[in-house]
Amino acid sequence: MGCGCKKSEGGRPKMKVGKNIMKNIRGIGVKNYRVLRDVSLGSVVPMPKQDETKGMPFGTGDPLSPLTVVIGRNGYGKSSLCDAFGFIGDCLRSDAEHACSIRGGFFDIISNCHDKQSDSKLEFQILYDNLQYSLSIASDKYNTPYVYAETLSHVSADFTGNDSMNFFASCGEGKVVRPNAESVSDIKLADKRRLVLSTLGNLNQFPDIVEFRRFLDSWYLSYFKPDAARQPSQAIPQKHLSTSGNNLANVVLYWEKEHRAELDLLFDRVFGKVLGIERLETKTTEDGRLLLRFFERGTDRPLYASQMSDGTLKLVAYTLLLGDPEPPPFVCFEEPENGLYHKLLGAFVDEIRKHCDKNGNSQFFITTHQPYLVDALKPEEVWILEKGNDGFASMKRASEDAVVRNMVEGGMPLGALWFSEYLESY
Ligand SMILES: Nc1ncnc2c1ncn2[C@@H]1O[C@H](COP(=O)(O)OP(=O)(O)OP(=O)(O)O)[C@@H](O)[C@H]1O
Ligand SMILES: [Mg+2]
Repeated sequence: MGCGCKKSEGGRPKMKVGKNIMKNIRGIGVKNYRVLRDVSLGSVVPMPKQDETKGMPFGTGDPLSPLTVVIGRNGYGKSSLCDAFGFIGDCLRSDAEHACSIRGGFFDIISNCHDKQSDSKLEFQILYDNLQYSLSIASDKYNTPYVYAETLSHVSADFTGNDSMNFFASCGEGKVVRPNAESVSDIKLADKRRLVLSTLGNLNQFPDIVEFRRFLDSWYLSYFKPDAARQPSQAIPQKHLSTSGNNLANVVLYWEKEHRAELDLLFDRVFGKVLGIERLETKTTEDGRLLLRFFERGTDRPLYASQMSDGTLKLVAYTLLLGDPEPPPFVCFEEPENGLYHKLLGAFVDEIRKHCDKNGNSQFFITTHQPYLVDALKPEEVWILEKGNDGFASMKRASEDAVVRNMVEGGMPLGALWFSEYLESY
């Protein structure tokens, strides 16, 4: 199931790296989404009431780190969490009905402890920098999903500027207000399945809202498919890797034209040493199709993408994504270890850290079953999903456990602790 990460009309939000202007997701909350009846990660703010747009308090809990990794047994909700991100994106680009229908419908998604006639809603909240966004989706008497409530509020401590606006809306009607609660305009949507954010986020008079809409629209949820990367494409350079990787050759073509030196550096650091590939180049055929050619060490005869292994293609794709000069601000990888040699996983985490250091606003969200990957992590980066007796998931951060913290400080790798059953409660 994919959100099909489309490029936003205004392109990706530009990364502003520097003191006081780094923007990150501080916390995420999800309610009534499949097995995730009520989970949150990082710093979250209680859901605002409809008229409560003035001075929201800051969230409680430590904010998310640049790298967030979720572990947990089969069926504990890792994919559901990633899919919740896709759901929000699909609501933004399409509408609530479409986002539900491509996932089997509202009643497949809503946590099944609820009576289908009850008024339960899918609820999401994101605390991003000083903005608190909340969204709740309900189903009407004809079983059509619609946006029950949506708010965007500046949290109290540091909103500034005359352009800062909050909004709140319920069933397509609401208000745009300044953070001091002065009303600016009424909202009346023609279609209550659509987000207010999609509409106001296209109006230049609301720059904060436009920026937040662009930010949500540029989340990159990876659904890399080696077979998609093997298909020849039209010889057009493309800046950004698609979520399936079907434009891998187009991105290499772009790098060849615009970032030759960086491509060579990547070869030195990753492809040559790890994969034994000396050269990667594109070739355009007479009929305008683009082929990706790999020159392995010790041979002049190229191999084509169609001949390369799944793991090799995946590593090339991840490397290009991590090297993207205009990277997505939020990247989600589900079980990136699949198909990768286990000793590469530590290097993969190192590359993510380098990327986050270079691009101050980048955040990564990863799910994994692989202790070797977890070995490379710090306790505050790891979140453990568990299931209670009620069959629903709960979430805890590895750093909450003093024993775990002490053992990691004493040199014990976190993945080894997980393997030895120190992380999960049984
Ligand atoms: N509407 C629902 N209400 C409650 N629970 C649900 C609902 N839909 C699915 N589930 C539960 O959620 C589980 C799927 O969770 P998910 O796919 O997120 O797990 P996962 O952690 O990714 O597992 P894996 O490691 O196997 O990929 C199902 O096995 C089912 O138990
Ligand atoms: Mg899964």
